[in-house]
Amino acid sequence: MDIITNIDEMQQRCLAARAQGKRLAFVPTMGYLHEGHLSLLRAARDAGDILVLSIFVNPTQFGVGEDFDSYPRDLDRDAEMACSVGTDWLFAPRASAMYPKGYATWVDVEGLTGNLCGASRPGHFRGVTTVVCKLFGIVQPHVAFFGQKDFQQLAVIRRMSADLNLPVEVRGLPIVREADGLAMSSRNVNLSPAQRRQALALFAGIRLAAAQVAAGERDSRRVLAAVRERIQQEPEATVDYIQICHDETLTDLETIDRHALLLLAVRVGTTRLIDNHHLGEEIPES
Ligand code: PAJ
Repeated sequence: MDIITNIDEMQQRCLAARAQGKRLAFVPTMGYLHEGHLSLLRAARDAGDILVLSIFVNPTQFGVGEDFDSYPRDLDRDAEMACSVGTDWLFAPRASAMYPKGYATWVDVEGLTGNLCGASRPGHFRGVTTVVCKLFGIVQPHVAFFGQKDFQQLAVIRRMSADLNLPVEVRGLPIVREADGLAMSSRNVNLSPAQRRQALALFAGIRLAAAQVAAGERDSRRVLAAVRERIQQEPEATVDYIQICHDETLTDLETIDRHALLLLAVRVGTTRLIDNHHLGEEIPES
């Protein structure tokens, strides 16, 4: 596995590989890899001839007062894990090269970014779509893999790729969880043992909602109230949002139908965790 930090070198390598008829599969990340990232890398390994992983803690998607500085980083550990699943090229550019003096171009997806994390983290998705667009321009992948853990991010990136006619196939893969149900996240490492236990309230809330829907409940408000109550039992948990939205438009749904998706963002201590679950899978079309 080669580690490449230089943007031009990365782009030249990718262009040369494409010219040789090689298929490029790409997994963009912010590093501190876990099984969720590895699931994307394994799928990407099977989908292309050359597997490219990027690790870049993108400053433009963090707001003022957010955890850019405390975001976990360990490139040596990441390189070992990436190598073990067959990554060919690990791209780790420097922020000063990605956003040099005079940088002035931004990608903004409207509509889908107005709700959920877009509402609670203003400017976040502008940073995400800008960096993913830049990474697509550097790597020029045939196919790129993202996790459904960040459901809104995946929807926004699909929208951007379609709207800007980017020649990249965007694929989404299921959430990978710890054995006890906590969705894997690089940020989980920042939880104290007590907070780690309280973090399970997100999955407990999801299970509670799924059980209510299985028992016939279709009123979003009642389900949301029950989930909120469960999460607020934890002393260090603060709800950022708990919503039930349509899985395509990401607008709020009053009545639970087959498109219903439960999405949560909860702070446990200072660590912001997100999770989501499809509630409507078993519900027939009305
Ligand atoms: P990061 O949080 O490192 O996540 C990289 C990719 O891994 C994303 O597509 C995310 O959805 C996926 N992922 C994270 N946890 C997962 C889990 N438990 N199960 C399945 N997939 C999971 O998302 C970002 O980085 C950044 O915003 C990025 C797209 C790289 C742009 O900077």
